[in-house]
Amino acid sequence: MSRTLTELAVEVLSTADGREKTARSHAAAKLWRESRAAGAPLAIGDATPPDRPARPARPELLAPRDMPKRRPGSEHGRIALIHAVAHIELNAVDLHWDVVARFAATPLPLGYFDDWVQAADEESKHFNLLCDRLESLGSHYGALPAHAGMWRAAEDTATDLMARLAVVPMVLEARGLDVTPGMIDIFRKAGDADTVAALEVIYAEEVHHVSYGAKWFNYLCGRHELDPAPLFRDLVRKHFHAKLKPPFNEEKRAEAGLPPDFYWPLAEETPGRHN
Ligand SMILES: [Fe+2]
Ligand SMILES: [Fe+2]
Repeated sequence: MSRTLTELAVEVLSTADGREKTARSHAAAKLWRESRAAGAPLAIGDATPPDRPARPARPELLAPRDMPKRRPGSEHGRIALIHAVAHIELNAVDLHWDVVARFAATPLPLGYFDDWVQAADEESKHFNLLCDRLESLGSHYGALPAHAGMWRAAEDTATDLMARLAVVPMVLEARGLDVTPGMIDIFRKAGDADTVAALEVIYAEEVHHVSYGAKWFNYLCGRHELDPAPLFRDLVRKHFHAKLKPPFNEEKRAEAGLPPDFYWPLAEETPGRHN
């Protein structure tokens, strides 16, 4: 018997080392795609993902307020920036495999799994691109501290797929679209063409991840006859604990199917007290 898709997801989530996790992620995505192309998709199965994914012993995880300040004007500051983004990418690999396995009991078309497996595979590539950049600059992933609390959004939305889609792809990954052009500029000004190239791959592919979020959020709204924009705003108010900060990349957000009436009203609000 071949393994189910949720078993493959759990294997990735249970692998601690970043390079090994992403190699397994890539291999799992390949198995899924081949099974789909052959017209014999792997069974989805019902393997349960861990509450928290396995992570390497390094980087040391610190609360955001304890993170050393970085100065993007220096080479050390740029290395710290690449390190921070690599950490986000590794977390994103786990987030996408988690959304494959955690909600597998919800009846969903196979296209849902195609999209998130594809996104997980791309995140794996992003992590490796950035690790390669760190290593060419004489550093490596794990050399610097990284943000603790990255898994918070997953925990806060572990029982509600629509909340998960609202908060992870449609808020957090959309935020990536807002800030990546500024990062690309920093590396362009520093003459680091290889990091610019890596960030450009990431920027182009992240638009798809936001669009998968919007697509499946709208799909589920249709199934339950719910009005997407007000529901999105309610779920973000309930499950996301920070402010939505303009400026927004309205063009890329629109390209991803995220209209301004979803997020602009939230930008003017102070987040409520939760927990
Ligand atoms: Fe990514
Ligand atoms: Fe992503």
